[in-house]
Amino acid sequence: MTTSAEPVRPGPLAARPVVLSPAPRLLRLPGVYRPQEDTALLAAAIGDLAIPPGARALDLCTGTGAQALTLARRGAETVLALDLSRRALASVRLNALTRGLRIRPRRGDLTTALGEGPFDVVVANPPYVPSPAATVRSTRGWDAGPDGRAVLDPLCGRARTLLRPGGTMLIVQSRLSDVDKSLEMLTAQGLRAEVDRSARIPFGPVLSGRTEFLEAAGLIEPGQRMEELVVLRAVR
Ligand SMILES: C[S@@+](CC[C@H](N)C(=O)[O-])C[C@H]1O[C@@H](n2cnc3c(N)ncnc32)[C@H](O)[C@@H]1O
Repeated sequence: MTTSAEPVRPGPLAARPVVLSPAPRLLRLPGVYRPQEDTALLAAAIGDLAIPPGARALDLCTGTGAQALTLARRGAETVLALDLSRRALASVRLNALTRGLRIRPRRGDLTTALGEGPFDVVVANPPYVPSPAATVRSTRGWDAGPDGRAVLDPLCGRARTLLRPGGTMLIVQSRLSDVDKSLEMLTAQGLRAEVDRSARIPFGPVLSGRTEFLEAAGLIEPGQRMEELVVLRAVR
């Protein structure tokens, strides 16, 4: 999670070389999450995913719809794009319209997704940045409570229910928000879960502005200024 445009280096856990190409030019209303390195890392994982014919796909926490557009381009039969932000959904509509892609934007969260599921493919770039302060509307795109897991925990906990048998979920998060816990939660439901790919990137302005909190919470080593983004893949 950074707003830096610096090059991204593959991390030690990368399952294969990671190339994070610049985000495609997406329309984005004010306040909507700007596609960043995590966007590109997840999109690359979707690009390598075998999407079955007739697939029902979900992009949870869709923002501009970057992942939903990739799913539609890759041939998913239906793509549901969920977000709490009305501006995000308006951005998705514009981005889908200008590309002639069929996406169904809907205001909602995990509960909405559970009501619409199950799906063959679920992708999510949820908020996962550990935050010392309560999440407010303007930071909802990235802040996720003191351990960064306010959205990850319920999502990982209900992964099996969201997926059809044989279905795949891809989630991107930071090592700072406990990748091992996500893997444990996914595996505990009988899913095959592993790291799909990762990338180490320099702290952007958000993390740079809260290094004291991160150090005090034991989430980073003193002086650490790089984070590792990880895409998890879970198969039912
Ligand atoms: C990190 S951004 C990801 C945007 C986009 N998917 C991408 O990859 O660039 C997270 C998005 O999740 C939305 N969001 C935050 N909490 C949510 C929740 N509980 N349910 C659904 N969407 C949520 C935010 O409004 C924001 O658009």
